[in-house]
Amino acid sequence: MPDDFPLQSQTPDALMLFGFWYRALPANQLRRGEIAKAMLLEQPIVIGRDRQAQAFALRDACPHRGMPLSCGQFDGQQIECSYHGWRFDAHSGQCKLIPSLVPEQTLKIDRIYAGSYPCEERDDFIWVFIPDPGPAGAGFSKPAPAPAPAPEIPKFSEHYKLAYLTADLPCSVDHGIIGLMDPAHGPFVHQAWWWRTQKSIHEKRKNFEPIPYGFRMSAHTPSSNSAPYKLLRLYADADSITTTIDFVLPNLRSEVIRAGKYWFSSLTTVTPITRNQCRIDVVAAWNLFRWIPFGPQLLKFVFAKFVEQDRRTMELQSEGLKHNPHLMLIDDADRPAKWYFGLKNAMLEMKKTGGDFRHPMTGPVTLKWRS
Ligand code: FES
Ligand SMILES: [Fe+2]
Repeated sequence: MPDDFPLQSQTPDALMLFGFWYRALPANQLRRGEIAKAMLLEQPIVIGRDRQAQAFALRDACPHRGMPLSCGQFDGQQIECSYHGWRFDAHSGQCKLIPSLVPEQTLKIDRIYAGSYPCEERDDFIWVFIPDPGPAGAGFSKPAPAPAPAPEIPKFSEHYKLAYLTADLPCSVDHGIIGLMDPAHGPFVHQAWWWRTQKSIHEKRKNFEPIPYGFRMSAHTPSSNSAPYKLLRLYADADSITTTIDFVLPNLRSEVIRAGKYWFSSLTTVTPITRNQCRIDVVAAWNLFRWIPFGPQLLKFVFAKFVEQDRRTMELQSEGLKHNPHLMLIDDADRPAKWYFGLKNAMLEMKKTGGDFRHPMTGPVTLKWRS
């Protein structure tokens, strides 16, 4: 990939990657027999939980005349459209009843489908698979299964705790993601008297390697500024602690920290809602502090602070981005951002041509920056 890769071409009309699982909403926001509206990649979706607590996702537009199905009635099994009362199976989207039909009218209603999406519950979130768009003008048919299960947080013991944080970001998914992997903003955005100051800035050197559809910051002793690390040091001696950070398309950042039998693992996603709106969801799992009452709260407090600082920053940044200014990415601090755009282009290219995935990295790289 050329070094002067123009960032501007990615904004503000950020392309979104279809054919992947996305987090739709926290699982505890949906009770049995309830439905809720969601938006993913500019597609309106109605998400619900049937009588057996199984989650499902349908396109939030009736295939008859487009009324949002989320305006309809849900009996725990079928959704009834509020306009003309057509009924659909919640999971398959198959039409079950058209009340206006008289007995001699032989319309084959079982061939009519409201669009449905593969839907799975994983690690406190409901995930929805957004397939590649079908041919223009084609209606919905029987749903196709997702090619792979929804992503999961790596876990290393039977017992663990789980917590999540979520924040809406007023920017494109690209700015959300590169903000997430940007190492140079820490000393300026995330300072606090109890945490770090601008004076703690120092030179860092990290090894990166290509992995399928992404890249990895190779296992290393974590930065002395990292949040879980400061807490982990209470448990294990500093040298035994290692962390690995992966980024994988379309939007997955996972971090695993291990110290002896203790571990902390998180999966952060930045989900495109519309082309200039996204949402960050951080879900963490760990087997530390299980016996300390304030442990999880402390961790959540630290993470909530961080996410709020990032959200506020991106809110301010969106003011500057409104008028589509010229932007730049510099080495080495913005190299992960360049890889992200390279990976995304390679994915779009592969989908377009049906050829191989051309990874933007040819091998391991060491990056240096001050933060
Ligand atoms: S629009 Fe839904 S039944 Fe007519
Ligand atoms: Fe940040």
